[in-house]
Amino acid sequence: MATRRAFGRLLLSSGACLTAAPRWLHGQQPGAEEFTGAGSLKNHAAAHGLYTGAAVNVALMRKDAKYRQTLIEQYNIVVAERSMKWGPLRPTPTTFFWGDADALVDFAERHGMAIRGHNLCWHEALPTWFASTVNKGNAERFLTDHIRTVVGRYKGKIRAWDVVNEAIEPKDGLPEGYRNGPWYQFLGPRFIDIAFRTAREADPHALLTYNDYSIETDSAEDTKKREAIAALVERMRDKGVPIDAVGVQSHISATSAAQIDGGLSHFVAHMQGLGLKVFITELDVNDDGLAANEAAAREKTVAGIYGSYVTGMLRHKAVTDVLTWGTANRWSWLNAPAPYGVKFRPKHPGREEVCLPFDNNYQPLPAFYALRRALDSRAL
Ligand code: G3I
Repeated sequence: MATRRAFGRLLLSSGACLTAAPRWLHGQQPGAEEFTGAGSLKNHAAAHGLYTGAAVNVALMRKDAKYRQTLIEQYNIVVAERSMKWGPLRPTPTTFFWGDADALVDFAERHGMAIRGHNLCWHEALPTWFASTVNKGNAERFLTDHIRTVVGRYKGKIRAWDVVNEAIEPKDGLPEGYRNGPWYQFLGPRFIDIAFRTAREADPHALLTYNDYSIETDSAEDTKKREAIAALVERMRDKGVPIDAVGVQSHISATSAAQIDGGLSHFVAHMQGLGLKVFITELDVNDDGLAANEAAAREKTVAGIYGSYVTGMLRHKAVTDVLTWGTANRWSWLNAPAPYGVKFRPKHPGREEVCLPFDNNYQPLPAFYALRRALDSRAL
């Protein structure tokens, strides 16, 4: 297990980890044979008993053969970027739209990939009818019906479900750091217990996960949020509420990456001590704060962060799954059309983020090689 200081040293030494390497640093692009097949992410992950994957855009999966090919070649686990959320799944209060979620599950099964389910209970991506339909009187029924129906449909097919997503936000000022979201407003904190218990009944073998973001750095805000999540998990364990894993989303900003130090390592060790797994669920690096306009310079910095971050996390046995939030830069949520994307590119709204391991032609970027080396660093 990594000590706090060792983890910090690792992250700070990302430059050192870059010197060990690959030909791309010397301006030479590796050949195709080096990043597919034996050279693929999934092959390197599987050699260490790890899962590696990405969030899948189902619309793109349907229309882009090269994207499909990359998913098949590179990953042994996938997650729907949108298709399993309430909004996409629930066109009306009484009907479900299964087309996209089923398509992803079928695709993953056909190609021997594991699946993460994302997500069963979140304050965002709710259907338009939600606000005028769900209330204190019927919220528990809506929540439990939804979970029974969705988890039941895919029973036995999902490795891990994000049962509750982003329920902690200390800035909202509620006791114990809860987010002031609709589920909390309707049911109080017990919505979390209800969701996890219902998910366990619906699929006893899926790993039930609490998933959240902005818990990676040692900033005062991230530290507070991480502590509130650890306390939530402790309370759940004390009450016998089933929980198997915590998802650390890992939407990292290139300019705050240096602040990722001992706190996260301590948190992962704490979760491991409780017998939980820890997943890196949504890794990407927001390069908006980097001054360099040349993509190559940003790619190099972003790769250093991928390498040091994943290497540090994989020093903990509890960390078994590493997923990026997308595959090629162009389709990342960080590069979404205005106004959505601009919100995350305030400094350089016209500059495409280099945030993921593949370029827009699905060729590997420096981050790919850094991630692959990080998977190989697993020594447990
Ligand atoms: O389809 C419309 C399009 O017609 C329109 O032009 C465009 C511009 O506003 O919006 C498009 O839909 C957006 C869709 O992404 C595609 O870009 C939705 O408004 C937007 O809500 C949706 O956002 C997704 C978001 O979750 C909400 O579901 C993002 O793609 C997805 O990456 C993001 O993922 C979340 C995780 O679930 C939880 N953790 C954070 C992560 C990033 O925000």
